[in-house]
Amino acid sequence: MPGGLLAVFGLRVRGTDWARKWVSGRFQGRMTKFLVTAGPTREHLDAVRFLSNGSTGRMGYALAGAAAAAGHPVVLVSGPSELPCPPGVERICVVSAREMHDRALAAFVDCDVAIGAAAVADHRPARRESGKPAKEAGPVSLELVPNPDVIAALAKAARAEPGSPGSGRGRRLVVGFALEAFGDDAPSRAAALERARAKLARKQLDWIVLNRLDALGSAANRMVLLGAGGAEFELPEQPKSDAARALVEHCVAEHGRPEPVQNVSEEES
Ligand code: C5P
Repeated sequence: MPGGLLAVFGLRVRGTDWARKWVSGRFQGRMTKFLVTAGPTREHLDAVRFLSNGSTGRMGYALAGAAAAAGHPVVLVSGPSELPCPPGVERICVVSAREMHDRALAAFVDCDVAIGAAAVADHRPARRESGKPAKEAGPVSLELVPNPDVIAALAKAARAEPGSPGSGRGRRLVVGFALEAFGDDAPSRAAALERARAKLARKQLDWIVLNRLDALGSAANRMVLLGAGGAEFELPEQPKSDAARALVEHCVAEHGRPEPVQNVSEEES
């Protein structure tokens, strides 16, 4: 059928394009390999019930797609999401925070930049029952234990001594997100910036992306990028796909930036 043939032809053209960009970039030695976490996690109480959140994975998938479209190799570690895997992206599907932690850390060894766009559940049930236990009459209390912080673990791995386990193949950049509710007035914005900066420091990230709470589930967002060195860039309100492209370009530029040279006299003293 002509329609079918065209569709197949279209796919082949896109595939070839992507492969050409990837191969040429690789030979020029300019590729930045991305690890992106996305989506929610599910923390099972038993075989069918779980705790989770309403994340769709949209921002993480947009980031993975933007990086791959620019010719970068991408590993996407995704919690349950309805979204299709973007072309050229290697997707690892996970369910729980602990699974996301383990798979992301393993993948990061071979990556240059990690972006934590996942909405990881902060807690999980202390016990997981097998099967589907019968409903209990009356109130039930649940014991919850904290989950590992995936992006903080990646940031710790990025600072590991060269040659030590998980130390990777060179300097690595780690970027997290901070979703904060704030208004347009200066005091509320300043307080949100301060909370995001505290998160950046606590998790020892290189950059944090401050997002307004109303970006959740919406097609557009307005991001502020905060750097560990004190930098602050405000991006205009734009569709998430454009915001994703801007963030990918920022990460590539930052990863390529030479590290500050240590003062020789300090080193010798
Ligand atoms: O602490 P909070 O959830 O606000 O931090 C948000 C950032 O931390 C996001 O980048 C999110 O992907 C990451 N995160 C994580 N593991 C957790 C909690 C948050 O990677 N357990």
